[in-house]
Amino acid sequence: MTEIEHKLNELNINSEENLNNEIKKNVFPQINKNETENNKNVLNDSDSKKENSNDIKDNKNVNDKLKNETTITPNNNTNEKKEHKKGRERKHSKHHSKKISRLEKKKLYSHLNIIKDSSLESFVEYILQNNIKNVIVMTGAGISTSAGIPDFRTPKSGLYDNLQQYNLPYPEAIFDIDYFRENPKPFLTLAKSLYPGRFRPTPSHYFIKLLADKGLLLRLYTQNIDTLERISGIPEDLLIEAHGSFNTAHCIGQGKTGKGNKGCNKVYTKEFVRDIIFNDEIPYCLECGGLIKPDIVFFGEDLPIKFFENLENDFKKCDLLIVIGTSLNVQPFCSIIDLVSPKVPRCLINLMEVGVLKNPHHGFDFTGEYQKFRRDAFFKGTCDDGCIKMAKLLGYEDDLKILVN
Ligand code: OAD
Ligand code: ZN
Repeated sequence: MTEIEHKLNELNINSEENLNNEIKKNVFPQINKNETENNKNVLNDSDSKKENSNDIKDNKNVNDKLKNETTITPNNNTNEKKEHKKGRERKHSKHHSKKISRLEKKKLYSHLNIIKDSSLESFVEYILQNNIKNVIVMTGAGISTSAGIPDFRTPKSGLYDNLQQYNLPYPEAIFDIDYFRENPKPFLTLAKSLYPGRFRPTPSHYFIKLLADKGLLLRLYTQNIDTLERISGIPEDLLIEAHGSFNTAHCIGQGKTGKGNKGCNKVYTKEFVRDIIFNDEIPYCLECGGLIKPDIVFFGEDLPIKFFENLENDFKKCDLLIVIGTSLNVQPFCSIIDLVSPKVPRCLINLMEVGVLKNPHHGFDFTGEYQKFRRDAFFKGTCDDGCIKMAKLLGYEDDLKILVN
């Protein structure tokens, strides 16, 4: 079994079906009523769930491994039994083995430090000194806030704190497929305010476009539905819209014709749908009268096939990972950062630190305390500031300016 297959196995996302089951378990809080009620704590829910589901078995291995790797025992192998017999005596011996933390180990052994420290400067130094060719970028709503589109979970300004007007049973219902079939109005009203056409890409989008122009971008995995990646000119084959987008829409049935109609799947353009929802009307299929829904992945729906088709190979090939503007709250995004090899440097650019699970194999480790290799960097600030700074450090400042202007 290859390393990546092993990781996919661990995450239980070795098949589309498993991935979607995993997503349903972890992402769609409404499936479990208790979770819905604890909704404000989604991150904690998701984290604790992840710890539990990834797995009791797995955690046991992880703990065993951690114990082994943090203990220096000279002649460890040959003297193992002897050492064990000595028992208490060993405790009082002057020469007893000393526990050493992963952090201390990194101070002793330079090969454990893939990057010098967790700064953006060290991350870029690594890029400049190594022959980086296959960069994966993962993005979330934070890269579009400077374009005027709110994110989801930032208290007060985030979308989920501003849905009172829609009278939803719980905030995520706005993206719930079952709720939409019964009551499409709230989503369509929201869609009107988010619809592509009014917003321009941000410097962060253009930074990713620049990576594509330089031939460095292996793939952009975005959770965003605003299509600003496409507008910035990032080629479609390098783009995976993991939660779909407004770019197309299709007939999902029901609608005027009642629950029996499963829909005819007829595809509609975003322009067709826009004209209808901008008139505050509900779009119905011209063929069968079913509801037309923009191709955004709702809770309870499968991710696009393109996501599954590329995930394994991409993360196998990846030699650098940049994660920008996401709370890493939604599966599988919060897990796929673990699919790159343990020595592949990763950088988070975000207003706040996210994705730290204090685990030897899962999540970020910016302090170097938890994982074998130091390879994670964190830029705390806006996505645009982080991307502009990275461009500058890479010597791409002028190229970025040209793209942005
Ligand atoms: P969230 O709202 O969960 O997280 C956005 C993250 O970006 C937060 O950590 C913010 O602190 C940070 N942030 C906001 N503005 C920023 C800025 N200007 N610079 C830097 N950081 C900034 O959004 P996502 O992680 O994208 O699903 O949410 C993931 C998914 O949850 C979405 O795709 C959506 C939602 O349910 C669907 O649309 C189906
Ligand atoms: Zn139809």
